[in-house]
Amino acid sequence: APIQAPDLRNCHPPDLPDTAPDVNCCPTYRPGTAIVDFRAPPASSPVRVRPAAHLVDKEYLAKYEKAVALMKGLPDDDPRSFAQQWHVHCAYCDGAYDQVGFPDLEIQIHNCWLFFPWHRLYLYFHERILGKLIGDDTFALPFWNWDAPGGMALPAIYASESSPLDQQIDENLKIMYRQMISGAKKKELFLGQPYRQGDQPDPGAGVIENVPHGTVHVWTGDPRQPNLEDMGYFYSAARDPVFFAHHGNIDRLWRVWNGLRRGSTGFTDPDWLDASFLFYDEEARLVRARVRDCLDTAALRYAYQDVGLPWLNAKP
Ligand code: C2O
Repeated sequence: APIQAPDLRNCHPPDLPDTAPDVNCCPTYRPGTAIVDFRAPPASSPVRVRPAAHLVDKEYLAKYEKAVALMKGLPDDDPRSFAQQWHVHCAYCDGAYDQVGFPDLEIQIHNCWLFFPWHRLYLYFHERILGKLIGDDTFALPFWNWDAPGGMALPAIYASESSPLDQQIDENLKIMYRQMISGAKKKELFLGQPYRQGDQPDPGAGVIENVPHGTVHVWTGDPRQPNLEDMGYFYSAARDPVFFAHHGNIDRLWRVWNGLRRGSTGFTDPDWLDASFLFYDEEARLVRARVRDCLDTAALRYAYQDVGLPWLNAKP
C-alpha cells in the first residue's frame, strides 16, 4: 500500500542529535480542521516561470525579498509563516510522523522514491503562498542553476560574497552527465527505491538525491554549527531560503530527466502514484496531495526558464 498522509494528531518532536536545539516542527493543527483533496489550479491561470537565481534582475529580487519578508512577518502559528514552512520539511524528514497504522515506523520522504514528488509539492505550495502574500499570481521561485558554469557558485542573491570555482567546472559537468544520463537509466536509479506503507524508511536514494543534492546541502551548511545548520542537516535545512532555490533545480532536473526518458514521468506502480502528503495552501487550507497530482508541471502552472544543459555532452 502507498504511504498515507500522516495523522496530524500524532505528530511528535523530531529525532535530533543532542547537539541540535529543542525544536518542535509539528504544524499548527486544530483538531477537526477539514482536509481537502488537491486540485490543480485552473488551466487559465498564468504559468509561473521560475528564473535561474544568478540571472534575475533587481525588480525580481525586490519582489522576492518582499514576499519572504511578509512570510517571515506572519504570526508563527499561521501555517503559511516562514517558521511553519521550514517546519514542514523538518517534520517529514526527522521522524515527527509515524506511518498510519505503524507506530514504530516513521515517515521519511528522503532516500526513497518519494524524494522528487514530495519536494515538488512542497515548493509548489511555498511558491503560491509567497505569490499570494504580494498579490502576484505570476510569482515564481528562483532556482539555483548549479549544473551550469554560471550557476556553480552560491547565487549572489543569497550571499554577498562568492568565490570562483573554475577548476571545478569541468569536473562538475562530468558529474552531471553521469548522474543524469549514464548512471540514471533506470527509474529506481534516478527516482529512488520503492517505499511503501509498512516499509522501513531509507530503502535507498536515487543518484541525484545523493549527488549533487546531498553534497550541495553539506557545502551550503555552516561548518561552525554542530550539525552544519542550516542547510547541512534535515531539520534546519529549509530555514535557509536558498533551500528552495536548490530544490527548484532538483525539481527542474526531474523534468529534464523525464524529457531524456522520452516523457516518462516515473513509476506506474500505484504505491508510488497514490502516496499522499498534507500541506497548507495559500488560503491556509489543509490539502491532501498525492504523487500522481504533481507529475504534470504544465497542469501545476509553472515552468523553468530555459537555460540549456551544458553537461549534455560532458561524457567523461
Ligand atoms: Cu528534503 Cu534537500 O532535502
